Amino acid sequence: MNEKVFTPKEVNPLNSLDEWEDAVLERYPDPDSIASSKATEEYRNYDDPARDTVKEFYRLNHTYQTYDFVQEKRNNYLKFDKREMPIWSAFDFLNQLVDDSDPDTDLDQFQHLLQTSEAIRRDGHPDWMVLTGLMHDMGKVLCLFGEPQWAVVGDTFPVGCAYSDKIVYPEFFKHNPDYANPEYQTKTGIYKQGCGLRNVHMSWGHDEYIYQMLKDYLPESGLYMLRYHSFYAWHREGEYQYLLDDHDREMLKWVKLFNPYDLYSKNPEPPDWNKLKPYYQELVARYLPVTLKF
Ligand SMILES: [Fe+2]
Ligand SMILES: [Fe+2]
Repeated sequence: MNEKVFTPKEVNPLNSLDEWEDAVLERYPDPDSIASSKATEEYRNYDDPARDTVKEFYRLNHTYQTYDFVQEKRNNYLKFDKREMPIWSAFDFLNQLVDDSDPDTDLDQFQHLLQTSEAIRRDGHPDWMVLTGLMHDMGKVLCLFGEPQWAVVGDTFPVGCAYSDKIVYPEFFKHNPDYANPEYQTKTGIYKQGCGLRNVHMSWGHDEYIYQMLKDYLPESGLYMLRYHSFYAWHREGEYQYLLDDHDREMLKWVKLFNPYDLYSKNPEPPDWNKLKPYYQELVARYLPVTLKF
């Protein structure tokens, strides 16, 4: 196969993966902080240079995430033959993902995971959900295996069927080769009405990867949180109803429950890991195997 070679700028259009997350936060601001002037100021900052990089990020994402691209990534990564690591080493590995933007204010990946899981724990949710919070972005290690940012993060969407116009920057899908394939551009495309999301291939990224990695270890509701946490067109916009089955409709509440912890738990104050360590060591040991395969 003639694989396209991407330039460094095409591999890393964002200065930091956080730029994507900040853009999502701007689209779906925290209802609790929306009234506060600081939040409003931040969201209204139209001169933000991150805007251009995020737009370019979505252009690349919507152009190159084809049905075939997704199959190729699945074939490669779902073999889990890259590395095997003890779970706590895997967090260290993930933390090698550092970027040059604002090292003072940006918390590392592990801090985001810990803040998410701690916010879930504070609200008294079941321990498997705390663990889901701790693990949900582990799939971002895909960047460390050389994957372009737009094949790791970004809102996910079904491939092989028509694109929802509620996906951010829908106009960029015109550049996707699948757009010219009529078989892929009917409402249900290659899928059957009501077939259920488990039969639908999503654009490739960290959600599907961590879901597949942990699918034997967490309850179904936690697995939905992992697998669809970036599928905003579904859990925030209510799109793609015609692909859903009863099970998806039942599970949606869990995906919705999880999302605010992911989006709104960011805090400049890092949690005190030394105090939390024993709790998490016990939790991880209870649910997960000693090593994870990547
Ligand atoms: Fe994520
Ligand atoms: Fe996250």
